[in-house]
Amino acid sequence: MMTKRLITGKTYFSIKMYTQQLIGPFRQIVTMASLPTKGPLTDDQLQIVPNAGIVLQGDRIVEVVNFEEGTKKHKNVFEMEGDYVALPGLIDCHTHICFAGSRAKDYQLKVGGAGYQEILKGGGGIHDTVQKTRAATLTELEELLAGRATRHLTEGVTTIEVKSGYGLNVADELKMLEAISRTSKEYLLDVIPTCLAAHVKPGEFDKADEYLDFLMNDLLLQVKQEGLSNRVDIFVEEGAFDVALSRKYLTRAREMGFQLTVHADQFSSGGSKLAVDMGALSADHLEASTDADIKYLAGSDTIGVVLPGASMGLGLPFAPARKLLDYGGCLAIATDWNPGSAPMGDLLMQAAVLGASQKLSMAETWAGITFRAAKALDLDDRGTLVHGNLADFIAFETGDYREVLYHQGKVKPVAVWKNGRLVD
Ligand code: NIG
Ligand code: FE
Repeated sequence: MMTKRLITGKTYFSIKMYTQQLIGPFRQIVTMASLPTKGPLTDDQLQIVPNAGIVLQGDRIVEVVNFEEGTKKHKNVFEMEGDYVALPGLIDCHTHICFAGSRAKDYQLKVGGAGYQEILKGGGGIHDTVQKTRAATLTELEELLAGRATRHLTEGVTTIEVKSGYGLNVADELKMLEAISRTSKEYLLDVIPTCLAAHVKPGEFDKADEYLDFLMNDLLLQVKQEGLSNRVDIFVEEGAFDVALSRKYLTRAREMGFQLTVHADQFSSGGSKLAVDMGALSADHLEASTDADIKYLAGSDTIGVVLPGASMGLGLPFAPARKLLDYGGCLAIATDWNPGSAPMGDLLMQAAVLGASQKLSMAETWAGITFRAAKALDLDDRGTLVHGNLADFIAFETGDYREVLYHQGKVKPVAVWKNGRLVD
């Protein structure tokens, strides 16, 4: 951690990390503490501490206090002038931001009427990004990824999941995972890697099952050995991998000790049920889930991750987020930021717009991009502003937390703290 660069590339020293510091005052701190993991939330359940300060030590939160009281105890005060509201750092639990190239050409075809899967079948889409990503060097890829990740950080996203899946062979999948690992080590943000080698079948293989066998017998072993990821994802879909093949692949990955996550029910039903049956951490997409799928998912420990950016990018309806909560499920919201279906990558804006459309309470929307998203990544040290958690938090220039989602993503954080460090 000591060697992590701020986004400006500055280094910092550990000596300061152990001094307690009080930051504030904030007109409101919305801690997101003490809320249930599953089911609907109302805004009056939110813990909102007025005129508050956050006490940090090193990279951790000591406590949230009344600011006046805090100044009596603490000499080291970072004083904010003006009206601010603080919330936990945002968590984007599903992205594909390690890639080279652009799919603007595909987008032009799509708005002209071509379908996402039609373009994929024709050798474009994901295959186009695979070609460009294979051609990029590790350094180029790391720079592209770091540029996107640091943009996310300045917009308040302090933890980002990033998938491989544009290499589709051993060397290039490992190159992607290595770029992800380097970015996490070298920059002041946490990047959680997921192996999505089972994204689509590459042209070098005739049959989907042969490709998956190859992944199970070769690539996954190397990913495990080199400690490059402990998460495995698969795109369960017509034109990608069917349920039976996916079950076999996920079973093997689970046996090898990987945690599971699934691209499920994007265009057709089947994936989310499989995700639940396999004990996956999350089932992501859900645009095409049936009522029975949503009920089944809600009754399980698998988290439903909805991706409004993919619906926006493809001009398709949002996933039934409201229904998932009403059936008692856990809802997280992520960007799916990728060059094809979701090039925007604005988590706050997408969550706010989804909330307006799906009638999510503000508490449900914030939960989906903070502690419930942390849960989808199996991280229990972030997403709420409580003692012992990472000091990842963001400040908005307003005195009323409701202003943020009301402005649908245009009100951005004016300050971001990651691991107790102010990002500059
Ligand atoms: O989650 N659906 C599959 N994968 C990505 C899109 C990747 C791409 O189009 O490059 C998704 O939408
Ligand atoms: Fe995705």
